[in-house]
Amino acid sequence: MEKVVSLAKRRGFVFQSSEIYGGLNGCWDYGPLGVEMLNNLKQAWWRSMTFRDDVEGVDASILMHPKVWEASGHVANFTDPMVDCKQCKSRYRVDVLMDELNTKKKKDVLREMFPGQFDGQQPDEKIVAEFAARIATDETVAQAVRILACPNCGTKGSFTEARQFNLMFKTFVGPVEDSNNVVFLRPETAQGIFVNFLNVQSASRQKLPFGIAQIGKAFRNEINTKNFLFRTREFEQMEMQYFVKPGEEDRFFEYWREERMKWFLELGMKPENLQWHKHEKLAHYAKAAFDIEFKFPFGWGEVEGIHSRTNFDLSQHEQFSGKSLKYFDEQSKEKFVPYVIETSVGASRSFMAFLCASYDEEMVAGADGEAGEVRTVLHLHPKLAPMKAAILPLVNRDGMDDLARNLTKDLQKYFRVFYDDSGAIGRRYRRQDEIGTPYCFTVDSQTLTDQTVTVRERDSMKQERIAMSAVRDYLLERI
Ligand code: GAP
Repeated sequence: MEKVVSLAKRRGFVFQSSEIYGGLNGCWDYGPLGVEMLNNLKQAWWRSMTFRDDVEGVDASILMHPKVWEASGHVANFTDPMVDCKQCKSRYRVDVLMDELNTKKKKDVLREMFPGQFDGQQPDEKIVAEFAARIATDETVAQAVRILACPNCGTKGSFTEARQFNLMFKTFVGPVEDSNNVVFLRPETAQGIFVNFLNVQSASRQKLPFGIAQIGKAFRNEINTKNFLFRTREFEQMEMQYFVKPGEEDRFFEYWREERMKWFLELGMKPENLQWHKHEKLAHYAKAAFDIEFKFPFGWGEVEGIHSRTNFDLSQHEQFSGKSLKYFDEQSKEKFVPYVIETSVGASRSFMAFLCASYDEEMVAGADGEAGEVRTVLHLHPKLAPMKAAILPLVNRDGMDDLARNLTKDLQKYFRVFYDDSGAIGRRYRRQDEIGTPYCFTVDSQTLTDQTVTVRERDSMKQERIAMSAVRDYLLERI
């Protein structure tokens, strides 16, 4: 993880927000290469979602009517249980506190909480795992935090009772900062889709089943931000709500699960680095929920949720707004509130997953029998790579630089490509490997006579000659 974070900063993928002021916890800035890659990722999602007949796009505002969040349940329920250490004032989310206990400590806590229950035996792994799964919600939490030692100062029994903490950021519209003017920064993009359901349906004349997709910022005042871009306070989501006739939700749930897993695989993720996590405990309105998890360097973590949400959200908005959100089915002449399948993926979190998945250090042979060296390479899918190609004149004279400059200008009409004429050619290749550039085109002395260039492929490091006039199509085909 440290290596990925360090490369991300050094090569301009991701910087700490307001770094010169010491940073702002849970906020990150995308640098020149990061913004290209993030845009590529969002573009890949947008194309896969909306370049089809049955999904429309929207871009709703971040600030919405405050009633939206009452209807959605976020005002009442979007909370995390939290405790403070009375000794050192550190604040912890209870489930994180429990997660950070190692297995031995969990066993000790269990033995202390349930004296006599284990007959002097250690509780086995299964009991510990069950305990860990229940811990965020049930009454054992209160007991557990009374016993735990603070990870920061080590004081035992120093935690306050768990309190609920709402994760939405509040602000005010207009000049008067009172409770009548409170609005929230949206904690998810989904509600901007629900409230526009009928607008989109009537404007686009879509019939069920159809979906609405949106990419945008979301904000959560997470108590514990951690692991780089994994859990941040400001992030981007790519969400799609697919509206179906009641009774058809199970079929489309399976369809979207398959589609979404395919998306990650087609962008180069290895199947062994992805897994499904089924939610056993469902919200009262939910029919089913699965997460796609990625194997991050720190362990498995959710990157996307696929949820079968019944007609809960639309019905709530009907009730709170007093406006009908029913769909009129022309075939059956019936009016009803559609059911919804949601796919919800973090753009920032999956950006990090693709960075981690592609990072590699490989031993490569040195030139002319010299000792080998380690090359750092990002095996990014060409669609995601921030630079699609580098154009390199072998030397800076004899017209090679002019040819290379002209080729760069031509290609820049279509792709983000990079011209580099400084340093030995091997060093230039390595610099491109490190940022995931899939192809390097080198203009050399042969180019001057036959107008061909060498193309060097990042992963295999193989080289071949192609006509300079074929470079654009070569890239188009592969990207
Ligand atoms: N509308 C449903 C929804 O928002 P979620 O599971 O809370 O569901 C969906 O969030 C996705 O958004 C997650 O799988 C994750 O990729 C991303 N996400 C959620 N909270 C995040 C955070 N604090 N930082 C970065 N990404 C986050």
